[in-house]
Amino acid sequence: MGQGVLTPHGEIAPESRRALFEDAGLERRGASLHLGGIPLLDIADGVGTPAYVYNADAVRRQYARLDAAFSGLPHEICYAVKANSNLAVLRVLRDLGAGADIVSGGELQRALAAGFDASRIVFSGVGKSPAELAEAVDAGVGHIHLESADELSALAEVVDRAQKTIAVGIRVNPDVSADTHPFISTGQGGIKFGVPFDQVVDLALAARRQGRLRVESIAMHIGSQILDPRPYREGLGRLAGLIAELRRAGIDTLRNLDIGGGLGIRYRDETPLAPERLAEAITPLARETGLTVVVEPGRFLVGSAGLLLTTVLSRKHSGGKDLVLVDAGMNDLVRPSHYMAYHDIVEIEANERPGGRMDIVGPVCETGDFLALDRPLPGVLAGERLAVLGAGAYGFVMSSNYNSRPRAAEVLVDGGRWAVVRPRENVVALHESETAVPQWIG
Ligand code: LLP
Repeated sequence: MGQGVLTPHGEIAPESRRALFEDAGLERRGASLHLGGIPLLDIADGVGTPAYVYNADAVRRQYARLDAAFSGLPHEICYAVKANSNLAVLRVLRDLGAGADIVSGGELQRALAAGFDASRIVFSGVGKSPAELAEAVDAGVGHIHLESADELSALAEVVDRAQKTIAVGIRVNPDVSADTHPFISTGQGGIKFGVPFDQVVDLALAARRQGRLRVESIAMHIGSQILDPRPYREGLGRLAGLIAELRRAGIDTLRNLDIGGGLGIRYRDETPLAPERLAEAITPLARETGLTVVVEPGRFLVGSAGLLLTTVLSRKHSGGKDLVLVDAGMNDLVRPSHYMAYHDIVEIEANERPGGRMDIVGPVCETGDFLALDRPLPGVLAGERLAVLGAGAYGFVMSSNYNSRPRAAEVLVDGGRWAVVRPRENVVALHESETAVPQWIG
């Protein structure tokens, strides 16, 4: 397992917390925690909690670092929209020059609404409906990554109907295993992602025979929160062999080598995967292919830049345990209960009251509704605020309305100012589209 991925329990080393603060752009001035220069208490008081807060500068810093790391290769960064699809966050990345990696019609609409050029959008996604394929072709999406022969047939119908020629890629399952949580490992055989290695050449030839599909990309995505460059190198080794085979088979239209996303960040004591190490590991093989390297990071760009603000509702002592009940639950941040993920949690106003080990749990009616277990925490009181760190990726986007809870507000901090970029959902609006008295059909 990836280091630190599989337990929400326990403490964090002070130097790791310092590094987490730095990654996010967090700073304690006196007792008060500031993000990008803004006191988080102002935001919590202003919009209420739970609220997600993102620091635009922290996103920019990660982008610049990744771009510089790959500067020795022709490359393109396509942000994986699924990690955080707030339009204001997308706009920050678009302004930096990123393309977008999308997996659904909904993400296509968001990417277009945020101003991404359709030609810089890659449509990955393990199951695309005919309607989504048609929308993508209509919009002029740059690349559609094929996942199967059935998808090829569906796309062939769409392009014939639209009378358009488009660029496609093939997402290969390179059959390598990455050392990460099994739910976010995507590159081995026997799972649903990608075209099995030995079927790629036939699929490429079938695509070419279709006449309106140009096979321009070979892609892989081996998993998420990867901390070691080895599986990338291994996967790329397999792709390089395939590329040679495809060329021998007469596919002479290849332009892009998409190595997917997956760069792991620090949540606790992990050593994040430095983009420089990744670039170094893949450069010799990538260079040999002569193709443009496409990287599709999500978490690396936005994960550390975001946090979730929450308010303590009550304290309980039960069965020898100290419990802190907060107003953010698994419906707001599902990563701890779904992946047993570790997110550091700190006070917004440091009060330095003596505390102890506590479980930090949410208001949802599930025993599995926790944000952290067995954590050393100061003696917090009802009404005080906490910040859950590392929540910029797969936080809000995975939130739900379970227990009829409105999804949290989202705030962007930029240049010493802050703005609500998505208001908290309204509980009445949540049920307004439902029909209490059904209009029966038939
Ligand atoms: N490209 C493709 C084709 C993907 O499927 C993904 C993520 C990415 C890029 C971006 O991966 P990243 O750089 O963010 O690791 N919900 C999980 C993560 C699921 C990732 C799914 N695919 C979590 O909270 O850890």
